[in-house]
Amino acid sequence: MARAAITAVGHYVPPDTYTNAHFESYLDTSDEWIRTRTGIRERHFAKEGATSDLIVKAAHHCFDRHQVDPSKIDAIIVATATPDYLFPATACIVQDKLGLRDNPRLWGYDLLAACSSFLFALETARRLVESGQSQCVMVCGGDKMSAITDFDDRSTAVLFGDAAAVVLVELVEDSEIGIIDSIVGIDGQGGPLLRLPAGGSALPATEETVRRRLHFLQQEGRAVFREAVVKMADITLEIMERNNLKAEDVHWLVPHQANLRIITATAERAQLPMDKVMVNIDRYGNTTNATIPLCLSEAIDEGKLHYGDNIIMTAFGAGFTWASIYMRWGIR
Ligand code: COA
Repeated sequence: MARAAITAVGHYVPPDTYTNAHFESYLDTSDEWIRTRTGIRERHFAKEGATSDLIVKAAHHCFDRHQVDPSKIDAIIVATATPDYLFPATACIVQDKLGLRDNPRLWGYDLLAACSSFLFALETARRLVESGQSQCVMVCGGDKMSAITDFDDRSTAVLFGDAAAVVLVELVEDSEIGIIDSIVGIDGQGGPLLRLPAGGSALPATEETVRRRLHFLQQEGRAVFREAVVKMADITLEIMERNNLKAEDVHWLVPHQANLRIITATAERAQLPMDKVMVNIDRYGNTTNATIPLCLSEAIDEGKLHYGDNIIMTAFGAGFTWASIYMRWGIR
């Protein structure tokens, strides 16, 4: 059976690094607290440009690395919590900046499901190519989290970073590889626990929303942690069990990178040793929709991924939203 598979990957991380010492210099926090509570040592922030600029650079990396003819791309899905604007869609801006004008069938849109957007977009891309609607979907996971972070709030300022990564999804005839199974879900009761309060139709921008700092994300960290740690492990185990995968059959767990303690707890419940778990939160913080594809892209550079590897990707985010995808790696 022909399946959808990831056929190319690229990433971009802006050059400017901010270590925990940067936050120690002006907030009541410490390198020790940040490292032990989150696993983060440093993160990168983009000094200029928007989310689309991060994605465009990641796309060029993808095209150059895999010698992609970009005219074959006929759909762009941008998975982001920090679109350039509410509209136009960042997908349109990315298409324009990349100069993708040769394919008359090209379409695209943004998909916003907080930290689960990338896996939701990957699942959507899979369905688009398997139904024949599209031939080559560029799924972009990118966030400029520094644009919505309150750098005066120690409980969120230290957590996030900026980055982007893209993957191409195409149909492959090889039945050994591709996206095999997915679990996706939402529960709106979690909404108030992690959100960007103002700027939408519920609370449009006013002087007061600016004064009350409501255009920055807010999180009840402890409550979100409790939900994330249970759900990440539950759906990872569920997708392994229903595909008859024992821990020894899984080559890589690629978890969303919100907190190293959530990642290690998920690995422990799935009985996966940490050397089978991709981690980049120490160097990049929580890059929201870049976390998972950035792990994959760097793993290519490091020679960690091999044809046929069983990979489980799992994410949890605001909403609440969650997803777990099982795929077999196909890039040689
Ligand atoms: N430096 C020092 N102390 C800090 C701090 C910081 N940067 N941020 C918070 N604290 C303090 C708190 O004020 C609190 O102090 P108190 O006990 O005097 O009230 C204490 O540390 C513990 O706070 P708490 O929020 O319970 O910490 P935590 O162990 O839960 O860690 C998070 C906080 C945010 C790291 C953690 O809750 C988390 O990772 N949450 C989930 C994130 C997530 O998965 N998001 C979803 C997808 S993006």
